[in-house]
Amino acid sequence: MYNFGLYHWRRRLRAILIALAVILPAGACRRTSESRWVRLVATVAMVGGTVHGATAVRRLLSPPPWALDREPYDALASALPFARADRALDIGCGTGRSLVGLAPSVPDSCTLLGLDVFDDRIILGNGPALARRNGRAAGVDIAPLVGDASRLPVATDSQDVVTACRVLHDLPATEVGPALREAHRVCTPQGTLGVLELPIIPEDTTAAPEEYWPDRISQAGFTVTSVQRVGQEARAEPYVLVVATP
Ligand SMILES: C[S@@+](CC[C@H](N)C(=O)[O-])C[C@H]1O[C@@H](n2cnc3c(N)ncnc32)[C@H](O)[C@@H]1O
Repeated sequence: MYNFGLYHWRRRLRAILIALAVILPAGACRRTSESRWVRLVATVAMVGGTVHGATAVRRLLSPPPWALDREPYDALASALPFARADRALDIGCGTGRSLVGLAPSVPDSCTLLGLDVFDDRIILGNGPALARRNGRAAGVDIAPLVGDASRLPVATDSQDVVTACRVLHDLPATEVGPALREAHRVCTPQGTLGVLELPIIPEDTTAAPEEYWPDRISQAGFTVTSVQRVGQEARAEPYVLVVATP
């Protein structure tokens, strides 16, 4: 079974602890108080705390750490020339969800690098060990690489396929350009870039996500060859999938 870690775990855990800090004393008051009003207030507090806690638990398990939403990664993989790739780099691989998603299309002969800052303050367990373990469970040997998207520790013109899945929106807006220019630098001249992005754009931008992300990619020197919307997570809008060449 995969373990892709728990997203935003510190914020969610704090919300769960706050809920428990309300529910437990309110429950004790409800049991011990003689006053009808105190019992009523305690009941309301318990209900509020339970709703708050249950919402935090639901969000903590969303996306479920064991599950892969295959559709967007399948769409990305089928748009990329993995069959003739000797080297591929996934920028912002995290615990390996995107690597596992791409795995069925990656030939054994292809060296698959997974790069990330591997910061476990946002995703519980985010680290090279989990990326490698999840990759193995999906049948691929991943070479995890600790590094920053805007300063890739990767040779120029060395990667036949470069991917960035659900990572650009996580970067500060000023870092998106440098990260894409680095992707351009490491991509071979005949290589391909695939970007899978949430339909999220900076607050001060009015462009639609399917215009915004391709524009940023073009500004970094790529030629965008296709843009499409793919996948549909529960309650979420479809992803934007952009394919481009250097
Ligand atoms: C939402 S996760 C996406 C993980 C995976 N690619 C996927 O499709 O599920 C975003 C990842 O980007 C990584 N990240 C954030 N800023 C980064 C940076 N400057 N350089 C490299 N990785 C970064 C985070 O550590 C996190 O693992």
